[in-house]
Amino acid sequence: MSPPEAPHLRALVLGSGGGGGVPQWNCRCRVCRLAWDGDLRVKPRTQSSLAVSADGETWLVLNASIDLRQQILATPAMQPKGGDRHSPIAAVLLTNTDVDHAAGLLALRERQPFMVFGTRATLDAIGANRIFDVVAHDVVPRRAVELFDPFEPLPHLSVELFPVPGKVPLWLEEGEVRTDMIGDATVGVSVEAGGRRLVYAPGCARITDELHKRIAGAHALFFDGTLYADDEMIANGLGEKTGRRMGHMPVAGPGGTLDELTRHDHVRRVLIHINNSNPILIEGSPEEEVVKAAGWEIAYDGMEVRP
Ligand code: MLT
Ligand code: MN
Ligand code: ZN
Repeated sequence: MSPPEAPHLRALVLGSGGGGGVPQWNCRCRVCRLAWDGDLRVKPRTQSSLAVSADGETWLVLNASIDLRQQILATPAMQPKGGDRHSPIAAVLLTNTDVDHAAGLLALRERQPFMVFGTRATLDAIGANRIFDVVAHDVVPRRAVELFDPFEPLPHLSVELFPVPGKVPLWLEEGEVRTDMIGDATVGVSVEAGGRRLVYAPGCARITDELHKRIAGAHALFFDGTLYADDEMIANGLGEKTGRRMGHMPVAGPGGTLDELTRHDHVRRVLIHINNSNPILIEGSPEEEVVKAAGWEIAYDGMEVRP
């Protein structure tokens, strides 16, 4: 037997799209139309999820996408190996309770032991929905995690949650909605293994000092790439909300992500959770060029990063 390999952080993008994926089931916007028509300039994308591992054998899935079953079918590393019942997915961590991030738990309901991690607020929201009890508590324990309190969901993989400005999920919105709340409803994740570190923040309304600090200490960043322009949904006749109203800062424009995170050009920076309206999804588009020229990569399903 060969000696076990030293821990080595790796990340696999299971789903690079935002809510709805690409193409979205009912959409023929500029981007979706190309995807429906099979134009190779737009890669189809499933919904938001990133898997991380220290050994390539057991994985922590950051956000259980509503497309999780499809993602497992497309990803050999996520498929059962040996024995009658097995899964490389040993744990799931939710960064919030958006449908695209949490509903995938329902795909993992066959009495397979794994752990679910999230903040108290996240686990309370899941706990209040009895449909999630189908993922039986006796085989799938849920563990509440405190912000700023590092833990090891898998051996040799250290994880720490920190608050990121955001809002309650769409399905819990009531009355006036604060879109950049700091608390434990929306979190970013720091993941470390073998001395390498990545930060994952698929939903972020605004850059904070805390985020700057986290990103500065990381080797790779997977960051909210939902919309290119704040008014892109409105301008394309797709909806009435700005990105900021949805709790997502735009990629471009004043106060956008490219602007705000230029100082971190030593970090490998990847946009993830990309909405179907976002023109960076069209390869060769001027917007894609802008993002690449600023030193950013655009996540795609199946992308592997070894920070
Ligand atoms: C978001 O990221 O804003 C949500 O996924 C929106 C939604 O629930 O469709
Ligand atoms: Mn989302
Ligand atoms: Zn679309």
